[in-house]
Amino acid sequence: MINKLSIDGDRLYRSLDALGAVGAFDDPRTGLRGVCRLALTAADGAGRLHVVKQLREAGLEVRIDQIGNVFARRAGQDDRLRPVMIGSHIDSVATAGRYDGCLGVLGGLEVVRTLNDARRATLRPLVVAFFTDEEGARFGTDMLGSAVATGRIALEEAYAFQDRHGVSVQGALAAIDFLGEADPRLAAPYAYLECHIEQGPVLRAAGVDIGVVRGVQGICWHEVTIVGRSAHAGTTPMALRADAGVAAARINLALRDMVASGRFGPEFRATMGVILPDPGLVNVVPGQVTATVDLRDPDTALLDAAEAAIIAFYAEAARMEGVTITHRRTARTPYVGFDQGIQDRIDAMADARGLSHAEIVSGAGHDAQELARLCPAGMVFVPGEYDGISHNPRELSTEGQCANGVNVLLDVAIALADEPATHEDFR
Ligand code: GLV
Ligand code: MN
Ligand code: MN
Repeated sequence: MINKLSIDGDRLYRSLDALGAVGAFDDPRTGLRGVCRLALTAADGAGRLHVVKQLREAGLEVRIDQIGNVFARRAGQDDRLRPVMIGSHIDSVATAGRYDGCLGVLGGLEVVRTLNDARRATLRPLVVAFFTDEEGARFGTDMLGSAVATGRIALEEAYAFQDRHGVSVQGALAAIDFLGEADPRLAAPYAYLECHIEQGPVLRAAGVDIGVVRGVQGICWHEVTIVGRSAHAGTTPMALRADAGVAAARINLALRDMVASGRFGPEFRATMGVILPDPGLVNVVPGQVTATVDLRDPDTALLDAAEAAIIAFYAEAARMEGVTITHRRTARTPYVGFDQGIQDRIDAMADARGLSHAEIVSGAGHDAQELARLCPAGMVFVPGEYDGISHNPRELSTEGQCANGVNVLLDVAIALADEPATHEDFR
């Protein structure tokens, strides 16, 4: 049965705008206002304080764990029961818009505000969460906070990760005063829900309101270090060069060839997002390049094969260019499927609101894939304008698109939060 409540779409959108003003910058490439709240920077700290203040004003009890994840709790009628958790992230890439992650967190806040306004209690507690460094854009490993909370990455290992300037996760958490005290190992919630922008073109092109996410594709990241010999660009004969830049280019083109070969399936994607030459000067052969490789595939076995193929190519490129190439795997997650029962509920709630919906596999990584190890988890996607462009200031989901997603989030959250106790609640 559908509940009678609806969220306030205008209030939700205003809260997205207000958070989007924290860490905003004028982007010369697009002429738009973008967002830069890289994890655990001062801007992320300011965004965190901004959101925590609103969570507290909504009457929630806020807890911060040792990896800086934030959990804000609304009591249930039976407060002993496992909570329904709604979450996502508020850190961003350096060139972000205002919706990625924030819709899930502020959507959770909007669900709570809606329940508060209606004085609507739920049987189970509700928790609105945001997780540290989902993006991985500063410290190199994505879903960091949720991976620690669910035990995939050890706390001490996460603390030791460093950014390009040698600042550690632990040091950065302390610097913004978000090194909390709560045990980072999260007790299993009853269920986990996340509303997110699709970050791709599919839903918008199909004219569909709601994406029912089946799962998240596998992700593999490498940091690649290529060491050659820097030398004068004008005097060094071509045959005497060990050009790290050319080796990086070969790897980048090999990725493109791997995609074109079709060997890794029709959905395989490969990207070299970082290419940093050292010294990076017009008249110097690059002696060193630091690069990254991002491989994605919904088929975990094909992703394994693609990783093996690119590792083999590193050796070939090293031989061809007379350089040394080493790599470090900074992220690796398999395909994660979401709970069928939650997908069925999202379908039913969208139908009840007269919203069209379609199944979709997420191309981006999400905290929900980590929480899926602990409890039934599911995601609601909303479409985005401009081919769903994301990780770009042009990123835009309209007020109506966002409100549709958060209304479905509200409906599913209420239904789950009113489910009676089971034996598992008292283990
Ligand atoms: C997170 O945004 C990702 O890289 O998928
Ligand atoms: Mn995100
Ligand atoms: Mn993102």
